[in-house]
Amino acid sequence: MDPRLPLSEEWRDLLQAVAQEHGLAHDAQSLARALSDLSRAYNGLDPASATRGRAALTARLAFSFARDVPKAASAVRELVGAGLLRAPRDRELRVIDVGAGLGAMTWGVAAALANAGQSGKMHAAWIDLDADALAIGTTVAKRAARVGGMEVRVSLERSRGEADLVILGQVLSEMDLALDEGSRASRHEALLREWLERVAPDGSLVVVEPALRDRTRHLHRVRDRLAACGLSPFAPCLHSAPCPALAHATDWCHEDRPIDLPRWLVPLARASGLRWEGLTYSYLVLRRDGRTLRSMLHAKRGLARVTSRALMTKGKSERMLCGEVSRGGERGETLVGGGARVAVLDREKTGREAWDAASRGDLLAFDPPADEGTSRVRLERTRVSAVDATDPSGYPK
Ligand SMILES: C[S@@+](CC[C@H](N)C(=O)[O-])C[C@H]1O[C@@H](n2cnc3c(N)ncnc32)[C@H](O)[C@@H]1O
Repeated sequence: MDPRLPLSEEWRDLLQAVAQEHGLAHDAQSLARALSDLSRAYNGLDPASATRGRAALTARLAFSFARDVPKAASAVRELVGAGLLRAPRDRELRVIDVGAGLGAMTWGVAAALANAGQSGKMHAAWIDLDADALAIGTTVAKRAARVGGMEVRVSLERSRGEADLVILGQVLSEMDLALDEGSRASRHEALLREWLERVAPDGSLVVVEPALRDRTRHLHRVRDRLAACGLSPFAPCLHSAPCPALAHATDWCHEDRPIDLPRWLVPLARASGLRWEGLTYSYLVLRRDGRTLRSMLHAKRGLARVTSRALMTKGKSERMLCGEVSRGGERGETLVGGGARVAVLDREKTGREAWDAASRGDLLAFDPPADEGTSRVRLERTRVSAVDATDPSGYPK
């Protein structure tokens, strides 16, 4: 199986064969209708119950699976780059996939490792309320079995042992919908704590959610509760201070990676009125050992994450940045405390490559770091460089 993302044409044939084996419709018209119904339900326009049943499973297998695999691969990219998620030499990598559904998150994790040149064995324990989804996912796993150098074994038994990785893919969104905002965030804080207990001392917990504003802001609230009790996020945040996106009801911090749908899915996306360019999701990575991406990249001064697309206005380009918050009142160690809108003037011609190339989700280092509250970077004083957290050579040995 080709580990590259988006999924290769081989996967189309495999998924069609699985649809046939389970008696799911795969003609273009039924698929397009099932997919636009599913999408309405996911967007809150139809009741959540419309995400279940055979029509929904048809659409999930034909479309959502291939779209969601890269979300998991992207969400673990920094863990893989930092060497904190890898295929062990002498045993299987132990993964628990909560709300596994058809297993897209499992395959995304395997693909991320395979794409990083790793080979080995991975065991994924799948948990889901929907036995039909798990049955279809198991058929996919039987037919696929490996991604590049990664051999994947799936089981549905509840294992009691610890895991190297627990991943919850787009499942928080479906849980406890009857609770009010605050109770739901507290409930999910407790849930993530419970799952973190199952993670090995050097393991990780990863949450992936849809990039929709309400779903992502809920994840921010859960993150803030965890961070307030001393659980610093590994990623995407570079600090544990309250999430600045929550300060304004219209803000939310999500990814929009330049990963398009596989070409073979574009006609279906078009027929259902869905986009095929870019990959949007939100994520949160937690570690048992307290390591954070910021601490792993400690040598980089003035580190900040780009949390918006480029905002082009007259005479300048701006980006929202979210950086490390200076501690103990020290100034000068951070470009932006929390979030800020930062500009570079168009008339600054040199040293602007990294700034111009940066897109949402990227990391930039500003050296020397400017004081907090900076709204304009002067390139003649500040060197802006790209930081690739997926590149193992960027981390100190
Ligand atoms: C949107 S699907 C996501 C599937 C997969 N994780 C992915 O990201 O592609 C959400 C899945 O969570 C499952 N689910 C919902 N509530 C659950 C719960 N309380 N416990 C376990 N699974 C649950 C659903 O049955 C469904 O298969």
